[in-house]
Amino acid sequence: MLRFDRQHLTQSDTLEFVSERTAIEELSDLFLFLADNDFAGYSPTYEQLARSISADTKLLEFVESSAHPNARRGRVPVLFFAATHDRILANPGCEIAAVYRGESDADPMTSFLELINQERGAIIENMRTRSVQTNEVGRSAALALAFGRATQDVSDSLTLFEIGPSAGLNLFIDRFHIDYTRNDKALASLGPDDSTVRLRCEVRGPNTPPLPTVGFELKARNGLDPMPIDVRSNAECRWLQACVWPGIPDRPQRLSAALDIARQSPPRLIAGDAVTDLAVSLDEIPESDHLVVFSTWALAYINADGRQTVLDTIDQRGANRDLDFITFEEPRFTPWVQPAEAGVFEHYLGEGTPTQLSLRSWRGGVCTTTALAIAHPHGRWIHWLEENHG
Ligand SMILES: C[S@@+](CC[C@H](N)C(=O)[O-])C[C@H]1O[C@@H](n2cnc3c(N)ncnc32)[C@H](O)[C@@H]1O
Repeated sequence: MLRFDRQHLTQSDTLEFVSERTAIEELSDLFLFLADNDFAGYSPTYEQLARSISADTKLLEFVESSAHPNARRGRVPVLFFAATHDRILANPGCEIAAVYRGESDADPMTSFLELINQERGAIIENMRTRSVQTNEVGRSAALALAFGRATQDVSDSLTLFEIGPSAGLNLFIDRFHIDYTRNDKALASLGPDDSTVRLRCEVRGPNTPPLPTVGFELKARNGLDPMPIDVRSNAECRWLQACVWPGIPDRPQRLSAALDIARQSPPRLIAGDAVTDLAVSLDEIPESDHLVVFSTWALAYINADGRQTVLDTIDQRGANRDLDFITFEEPRFTPWVQPAEAGVFEHYLGEGTPTQLSLRSWRGGVCTTTALAIAHPHGRWIHWLEENHG
């Protein structure tokens, strides 16, 4: 079987390379890519499982046949993990559940396969009806820097509008406490000291981001998602838990703390598709508010034409009202932004898919676009790119 040196390829290279290969070979490489780049050193159970799955043709065939025909190819392995994790959460007494909770260090593959045999139908149902909806509040650590940078010149109240918010937890960015560090020393803190959601983000690289000194005054929290998650529904919140990778203790803890905050006053989430419904939703926001539209790991789920429509929709509004569009996405999904130099990405190979934080600002009918930073996909570290804002 044709193989290649994964160490030096990005996920997009991988997908391009595998396009002429069979679907099963392609899936196998996607699982291996995740094991090497996203799970290694972060979620050991998923790393082990992903490596075993990549070598198990029968299981790969099950995953392939269970995925919805319209599912985005690159996201199928993570959807499969979430579909399975959901059944583990529903059966907390099963053997693999103890491994996921860190109570057993048995080899996970045997009990994982047992669970799949028992829960086959429910896993297929999840794969067909659900999508990856990981609502990762760690991304607020990166977003907060972009919000601060974008709104330095803004005095109007801020209205947030998130594309693909899942449950909308990052819309509560002003309620989270964020510590920025460099070499383990405190650089700055943001947000209420007594917040139950506590995020930590390590600043790396030669530049220091402009660190906001005051919190945000938010007037409104809005989002648009084909399947918005209702924070008041336990069943829906279990899907959020299912999307979290095992072995990273602070993730379930901060997810649950963020849900508690959101339940006090749920955000306004509209059920709809950003490609077709964004224009109408944005036009409902009063012109007197400063509009900040943002997307984090959502454009990956929209095809290239759809992403261009989203951008055109925002630009048409930006030509007539000041606004900011902040993206925290893999660079290939924001082709309107000049990406960081390849060397920066190479430097962070194996530390999570490097995610680019970018800002497109409209002021007085003039548009500027800036790549602000490269960061860990869950906001654990950030490498600021701009030199003149330190
Ligand atoms: C991986 S989740 C990310 C959630 C959240 N942005 C975060 O970073 O925590 C991707 C989200 O994008 C949403 N999504 C997928 N296609 C979309 C579309 N066409 N329009 C709007 N949202 C979409 C999904 O439903 C899901 O909630």
